[in-house]
Amino acid sequence: MASFKRSDGRKVNELRPMTAKVGVVPNADGSALFAFGDTIAIAAVYGPRLLHPQHMQDPKQATLRVNYDLLSFSVYDRKKPGPSRRSQEISKMTEYALSPVLDLKEFPSTVIDVQIYILQADAGTRTAGINAASMALAHAGLPMKNLVCSVAIGKQDTTVVADLTKEEEDFHEGEGATDFPLAKIANSDQFTLVQLDGNIATELVAEVLEMANETCAEVYEVQKKALKAGATQ
Ligand code: CDP
Repeated sequence: MASFKRSDGRKVNELRPMTAKVGVVPNADGSALFAFGDTIAIAAVYGPRLLHPQHMQDPKQATLRVNYDLLSFSVYDRKKPGPSRRSQEISKMTEYALSPVLDLKEFPSTVIDVQIYILQADAGTRTAGINAASMALAHAGLPMKNLVCSVAIGKQDTTVVADLTKEEEDFHEGEGATDFPLAKIANSDQFTLVQLDGNIATELVAEVLEMANETCAEVYEVQKKALKAGATQ
């Protein structure tokens, strides 16, 4: 809806300014930073390395183990350190979002650890984390079908909008706000994550997927550019 005004003046399909860089954790096998505006995620990859204890090993393939967390100072109210139900859920969702592009069978009995930390949170942390992790896996030199790109499409009242800020997520007028985090394999129609927090009319879902396709392509360009810049350093 052309008349709809977002609180930060963005167009309905406009992502926040993106920042991406690889090699931010030199001691990791691969690492990356990805930001959507004030939401900043870093990811570090370790492995593949033999998984201990031995009984946890899968002799047929590598285990992808993601740990996502918000740093204590990343949110307005200090976040208590340590795992929470929310961080466990996001870690699992991120594993599901990334696994389809990895050839885990190539590294039996090993673990690939992906650590994701949110330095600053202003909504969209799981999507920024997935983008950073996907770049960090590529930076680690792991064979991948393609990058995974992620965005949150949402709805404010009845208007579909891309990449909501925390202020937009907290919008209460009309139908309120809905958040729809998605991830997809770049240059494909294959979504690897579709979550929904809130309500949405079925006829708007096609619009959400269309906006996810458009905006994920923009994320992919930013990821690719950062990986190329990292390779020439
Ligand atoms: O971050 P994301 O949108 O993927 O997930 P969410 O669970 O919907 O969280 C939305 C936002 O709430 C986060 O990005 C933070 O800005 C904020 N939040 C917070 O302030 N304190 C927490 N303990 C968790 C989330």
